[in-house]
Amino acid sequence: MVSRVIPVDDFDLVIFGATGDLAHRKILPGLYRRFVAGQIPPDAQIIGAARTDQGDDDFRAEAKAAICEFGGVKPDDSSLAEFLQTLGYVPIDAKGEGGWKELKSRMRAGAVHAFYFSVAPSLFGDIAERLAGHGIADDDSRIVVEKPFGRDLKTARALNATLAQHFSEQQIYRIDHYLGKETVQNLMAVRFANVLFEPLWNAQFIDHVQITVAETVGVTGRGSYYDKSGAIRDMVQNHMMQLLCLIAMEPPYHFDPDAVRDEKLKVIRALEPVEPQEIVRGQYQSDGKAPSYLEDAEDPNSSTESYVAMKVRISNWRWQGTPFYLRTGKKLRARTSEIAITFKEPPHSIFDDSGHPKANELVIRLQPNEGMNMKVMIKEPGPGGMRLVQVPLDMSFADALGPDGRDMPDAYERLIMDVIRGNQTLFMRGDEVEAAWAWTDPIIQAWEDSKRRPEPYDPGSSGPDEALRLMHRDNRRWREIR
Ligand code: BG6
Repeated sequence: MVSRVIPVDDFDLVIFGATGDLAHRKILPGLYRRFVAGQIPPDAQIIGAARTDQGDDDFRAEAKAAICEFGGVKPDDSSLAEFLQTLGYVPIDAKGEGGWKELKSRMRAGAVHAFYFSVAPSLFGDIAERLAGHGIADDDSRIVVEKPFGRDLKTARALNATLAQHFSEQQIYRIDHYLGKETVQNLMAVRFANVLFEPLWNAQFIDHVQITVAETVGVTGRGSYYDKSGAIRDMVQNHMMQLLCLIAMEPPYHFDPDAVRDEKLKVIRALEPVEPQEIVRGQYQSDGKAPSYLEDAEDPNSSTESYVAMKVRISNWRWQGTPFYLRTGKKLRARTSEIAITFKEPPHSIFDDSGHPKANELVIRLQPNEGMNMKVMIKEPGPGGMRLVQVPLDMSFADALGPDGRDMPDAYERLIMDVIRGNQTLFMRGDEVEAAWAWTDPIIQAWEDSKRRPEPYDPGSSGPDEALRLMHRDNRRWREIR
């Protein structure tokens, strides 16, 4: 199977914050890979804009180093040299007047204009105002903004209002990179392109759902940023919320931006408040060699969580009575993201002598070893009665799809090309982000009011013991993190 490359229109893409970490690690390597795939039109321009006073060639050298370091595979010399020719650079003063006229002179009439705000949210307003004020952006231009989109409902609303002064909702692309992951998009394909699952996809047949995003890395090097955020703001309000929505939403009438986002929004609005006893927070300890969370955060009194587990209920007809358990954390046993759907046990067993059949389970592995695994009951071979055994039906994308399943594009590649195409389906709408904060705010507030400290957990473990009890109380178990 060969992936199809759908060409995009000619474009000028300006990356504000082009000398920063995200540009180096994700945006520039992602654009280079799209270039190699043949998706970038020959005349397209990628213009870096940042405070550093440097010229086009300096930026090209910087981009080359970034692509070599973070691009994954070793780049091919000639394609890299060609790609670098699409790059330019304009030193810009986001809060002043320097550089804006120069930027304007570089933009070409007739090309799609996109502006990537890979900068601190405190600069969004300044940049938006100058793009509009200098006539650099027009009604067809697009802006791309990164998370964190606010740190609570109030700040998210303020950011939305600031951007809305200069850009319409159709021009704003709020990135949640989880939506750009192939396997996350696949959740919609699995649910809505198969007849098999949908009739069972409800509280009548599903006992519970577990969503796990486990990481092995800690927060070393970004402790001071992370400490102001914590796992709830960093992962739950956005990435895990998106996963929850894709699993729980009703079928949209069409795969188009507003139809999909309307359905996600309904799920977020139907989330019940989380009770304090149904949430567990943790902080990783030191293993004797690597620092503890408190050392990484450089605050011995920090009560920010590096782990959170919670039980979430969705108050609607489809999900009444089926809890969703979410957990995410740093420094856990393995890097793994998966969604496990545990069905109910068969209501009655006809096989008297072999025990009750076990519940079916569908596990969708988002990363790594992307694939799906379904546990089904079969007869154990051999004479001597009907003995049942549970076996996996295992499918990895790498096996099923060949090279395409092995070498999946990075989320940013897909998302940036969607911006150029003008397709907002995989971007968050303003009301969606606000609804997610409206649900998250009281959880954070209750935690702050409680003055409790997070539970300690060992690095390399599966999180605090208290999180196990959260499930055991309901006679359920977390799947092993491995
Ligand atoms: C980011 C968070 O948004 O997502 C990080 O800020 C986290 O803390 C990362 O590590 C996880 O993304 P991925 O793609 O590695 O699963």
